[in-house]
Amino acid sequence: MRRQFISHAISAAALLALGALSARAADNAAVQEKAAVCSGCHGENGISQTENIPSLAGQPDQFLQWQLVFFRAGSRKNEQMQPIAEAIANEDVRSLGAYFAAMTPPKPAEDKDPDLSKKGAQVAEGRRCASCHTDSFAGTKAVARLAGQREEYLVKALHDYKAGQRVGGGVAAMADVAYRMSDEEITAVAHYLAYFK
Ligand code: HEC
Ligand code: HEC
Repeated sequence: MRRQFISHAISAAALLALGALSARAADNAAVQEKAAVCSGCHGENGISQTENIPSLAGQPDQFLQWQLVFFRAGSRKNEQMQPIAEAIANEDVRSLGAYFAAMTPPKPAEDKDPDLSKKGAQVAEGRRCASCHTDSFAGTKAVARLAGQREEYLVKALHDYKAGQRVGGGVAAMADVAYRMSDEEITAVAHYLAYFK
């Protein structure tokens, strides 16, 4: 596990060293062409309309790059995403990260269950989610944006961490958090975050 993490850290350092190129790359037509494949599942403008597929728009650049590296290395498992990530070159990991990070994040619809959101807010407070995900839940660096993400995907992600099915970089941050959460807490906090404005 540790070795795997170190090799990820090395590839990420290499990615970041070349990151300066990514802003320019994001503008060019080549990345748009590559991102068209992604839209088929992740939605137009990076906003997913499909169950259990996350929106990518407005995720932190580093978070996106890391997840692609994790899928590619097989440390994050998913039948649909792994083959796609395996075909993405380092250069494109950077340009796709910059491309989706620059997009406008999803705008939540009207919250139809504010009572559930209230419970979710208490969970987020008690579990100190904002201490890593930031007060606006927009995420930062390798920490994911949660605000406006699809509700059922947030539920799935938290269950995946809780069950040890999603390990990511081998950093136990989310496994530690999710392991302690009840199913009721997961349901409530996912609702709160999906509608967070
Ligand atoms: C065939 C459908 C499909 C296509 C095409 C696809 N993805 Fe995905 N992607 C998924 C699914 C499903 C997940 C969620 C995996 C899970 O539940 O862990 C995902 C997850 C991700 C994640 C992790 C996001 C998060 O919030 O954890 C990133 C980053 C990502 N995809 C990037 C891309 C990029 C970039 C492309 C285009 C090059 C792409 N995907 C194309 C299905 C797809
Ligand atoms: C100690 C820091 C930390 C705390 C506290 C924390 N998180 Fe996270 N969270 C992370 C990191 C880092 C990631 C990215 C992990 C990875 O690469 O899989 C993440 C990822 C996630 C994801 C996956 C998002 C996606 O798009 O795939 C969800 C959902 C999530 N966190 C929810 C929460 C909730 C809800 C709480 C509070 C109950 C919380 N987190 C508390 C650090 C934290």
